[in-house]
Amino acid sequence: MQVSVIILAAGQGTRMNSDLPKVLHHVAAAPLLHHALATAHGLEPSRIVVVTGHESEAVAASATAFSEAADCVVQDPQYGTAHAVAQAAPLLAEAEGEAIVLYADTPLIREETLRAMLDARANHSVVVLGFHAKDPGRYGRLLTQDSNLLAIREFKDATEAERSITLCNSGVICAEAKLLFSLIAEVKNTNASGEYYLTDIVEISRARGLSAGVVLCDEAETLGVNTRAQLAEAEAAFQSRARGVALENGVTLTAPETVFFALDTYVGRDAIIGPNVLFGPGVTVESGAEIKGFCHLEGCHISRGATVGPFARLRPGTELAEDVHVGNFVEIKNAILDEGVKVGHLTYIGDADIGEHSNIGAGTVTCNYDGVMKHRTRIGKRVFIGSDTMLIAPVTIGDGAMTGSGSVITEDVPAEAVAIGRARQVTKPGLATRMFEKLKAIKASKAKGQ
Ligand code: UD1
Ligand code: CA
Repeated sequence: MQVSVIILAAGQGTRMNSDLPKVLHHVAAAPLLHHALATAHGLEPSRIVVVTGHESEAVAASATAFSEAADCVVQDPQYGTAHAVAQAAPLLAEAEGEAIVLYADTPLIREETLRAMLDARANHSVVVLGFHAKDPGRYGRLLTQDSNLLAIREFKDATEAERSITLCNSGVICAEAKLLFSLIAEVKNTNASGEYYLTDIVEISRARGLSAGVVLCDEAETLGVNTRAQLAEAEAAFQSRARGVALENGVTLTAPETVFFALDTYVGRDAIIGPNVLFGPGVTVESGAEIKGFCHLEGCHISRGATVGPFARLRPGTELAEDVHVGNFVEIKNAILDEGVKVGHLTYIGDADIGEHSNIGAGTVTCNYDGVMKHRTRIGKRVFIGSDTMLIAPVTIGDGAMTGSGSVITEDVPAEAVAIGRARQVTKPGLATRMFEKLKAIKASKAKGQ
């Protein structure tokens, strides 16, 4: 089945009290807009059109960053939701099959729910996603009779009796693409807001003798973000859902409520995630890897059997091969660690390649930045880097080589060599005792003088 998805993202979001357009605010380390795009993508649509308006360039850039396949149109000025959808008409003039309208500020709609709407199209020309609201507030009300949807009444235009209805419009609508645009062409703005309401297509379709119906979803799924408080609510709802999915998929979460996932986090079966772990964007954790407590991970790939943390920070471009061990207070960025590498303690690895089974001693630093440019450190296989080695990049350490603890390595080290770059030790017998006596005498004479 061919599907086109239209995502409405033109609104300003005044109640966010922000310089940033509402749909670019983050939930689960991704803009709200990306949540709608991700859900749309799940349907493998033939087209995705994002309707932008407020800060249209920034919103369009964010849409294309998510997917090159997303087309953007600008709605300026913004005359309402039907007017917004109409902007997509020229792009979808030839579109066959179904069209689904989503709102970019409603991040929790599930793909399964949209599929249920597509299925319901077998019975109705227009399908609306509805929910029973605990507090229906200013939502549009769904006026139904048996299994038919008669009309959607906007709060502003509703009578007292209609306002007492708790079955509400989520905003998501599905119809055949060609029908959708032909219905929208008939929408008028003769209502309390003077806007072109998308919701009017229900009555217009019925006037043509077509039927409309409702698919129900949980209220939590339709949570729309209009305020910072709702942004926080959406974050909490996303996290609680993501934790549930991870557990369901066979991931151990020692303290689920303290683990925070990103929209695109992937964690394989039998991985173990300790308490207080935060996933930024772009993290994949393969089966059987273990992330111990208090780790902060972003833009990294962790292979099977690897162990990370506690208290490790993996930054973008980090690639850990199988059975790599990264211990506490280790920061890694833009580095590839081959199979079995160990970086146990208090280390910074940035812009580096480390060959299999090499061991990096405590306190090692790859000095990758000269104040202007970044440089790479290349460490071969089975290398032993002594504790507190400063590797001044660009520098290469050959296979099977060693560096002495406390070395500052400025020159390449050939394979199998030992490099020591530190001042030779000087030992003076008895000097400590004489020093202590002298210092105590100075202290005593000072005390007398006071
Ligand atoms: C809309 C529905 C209402 C529903 C509610 C659910 C209409 C007329 N009403 O009301 O029935 O219960 O959503 O949240 O559709 N937008 C544009 N261009 C515009 C106007 C809006 O892109 O000209 C976008 C907004 O950015 C937003 C979405 O469409 O993402 C909804 O618009 P909003 O003004 O919030 O509609 P509501 O009044 O909440
Ligand atoms: Ca709204």
